[in-house]
Amino acid sequence: MKALIVGSGGREHALAWAFRRSSMVDGLWAAPGNPGIADLAECVDLDTTQSDLVASWATEQGIDLVVVGPEAPLVAGLVDACEARGVAAFGPRAAAARLEGSKAWMKEVLDRAGVPTARYAAFSTGDEEAAFGFLDTLPGLYVVKTDGLAAGKGVVVTESLAEARDAVRSYLSGEAFGEAGTSLVIEEGLSGPELSLLVLTDGERAIPLAPAQDFKRIGDGDAGPNTGGMGAYSPVPIVGDDIVGEVMTRAVEPTLATLRDLDAPYRGVLYAGLMLTAEGPKILEYNVRFGDPEAQVVIPRLASDLAAHCLEVASGRLETPPAWRPEACVTVVMASEGYPVQPRTGDPIEGVDDARALGDDVLIFHAGTQREGDKLVTAGGRVLNVTATGGSLAAARARAYEAVNCISWPGMQFRTDIAGAATGERA
Ligand SMILES: Nc1ncnc2c1ncn2[C@@H]1O[C@H](COP(=O)(O)OP(=O)(O)O)[C@@H](O)[C@H]1O
Ligand SMILES: [Mg+2]
Repeated sequence: MKALIVGSGGREHALAWAFRRSSMVDGLWAAPGNPGIADLAECVDLDTTQSDLVASWATEQGIDLVVVGPEAPLVAGLVDACEARGVAAFGPRAAAARLEGSKAWMKEVLDRAGVPTARYAAFSTGDEEAAFGFLDTLPGLYVVKTDGLAAGKGVVVTESLAEARDAVRSYLSGEAFGEAGTSLVIEEGLSGPELSLLVLTDGERAIPLAPAQDFKRIGDGDAGPNTGGMGAYSPVPIVGDDIVGEVMTRAVEPTLATLRDLDAPYRGVLYAGLMLTAEGPKILEYNVRFGDPEAQVVIPRLASDLAAHCLEVASGRLETPPAWRPEACVTVVMASEGYPVQPRTGDPIEGVDDARALGDDVLIFHAGTQREGDKLVTAGGRVLNVTATGGSLAAARARAYEAVNCISWPGMQFRTDIAGAATGERA
């Protein structure tokens, strides 16, 4: 089949890597792709915010399957546009992608499905006083979230009522996040370890993928501001089949049933963000696509054909359970100077070929790079996802850092404690 991967980050590079290895795939394109993906697929410079443009390009090109990486085109209806032209697409239609596009709607779906989640109320511009009133009913940890997409930056978790009120004010006025914040959700704060679970589903049948753990903060020991994610590992020793089973029966399956009732059946990969509270797992949010960088550690562990799984899902017939390699996988995100506040771009990157030359167990996924002549330079906040597999988490972790140490550019940042606690090497 001919496949098109939509997106330009490390997640899409991992998708392209798996599709390139599939015996089913004999033509591979990416829009817009990146310099790493360009080694595996033909990159096409399409504006992926224009669903109709991408869908009509796919039709003309004879694409059999479109795989959508990021949330924005899903929320904008790219899958609907492809399907309207008879092109199969992996990912939810807009009606179901709203789970990520509107946190208020997601909370309504959770309540309707009876899924455990934090107590909440939703407010819009004009409701400021009511929002302050709701904050007063919460026991002391306040969570304020933009309703709309905010690239992982729209959530404030604080013990300070004043700070929570400030967030409400700046969101509702449009000052902080524009339209995305003029509706918001306020939640009670929960506590406990966090977990993400990715689930493949055709709307009816749902199969969990191997659990992965990501690292959100910029600095070692979870210091500093939140980022898109600074690393990940899989498998996750503390997440057993019992927890996965409980999340499937108490959260994922009721959610999928409710979405079917609402005429918004969900197809694709559903990403459940959870907190393991003293009262059991509770859903913090759903994302409607593979996590980035979780995908970069889950996909290399897949022994079965990802393209075949995606095609089954997209055609509404998920039958084959994924098979897993026994190896563990660790990815370390290398970021540019200034990330996440103001990433500097244009720094020349050295050593990627040396890192790759370590062996087939090392994979360098590009996230924010650009070619300038024969040089590779930084072009975003998260630049490279340096990934390695190994016979154990400790071996994969050691190998990933060996590869990281081959690579450099001025001002580069990375965490040194990815998978450290899980391997007993770092607290
Ligand atoms: N109710 C909550 N209680 C405590 N922490 C929360 C709560 N909701 C979210 N968080 C924290 O904020 C982070 C971001 O929230 P999330 O709902 O995942 O939004 P997004 O990923 O869109 O920014 C979570 O990973 C979690 O650390
Ligand atoms: Mg999240």
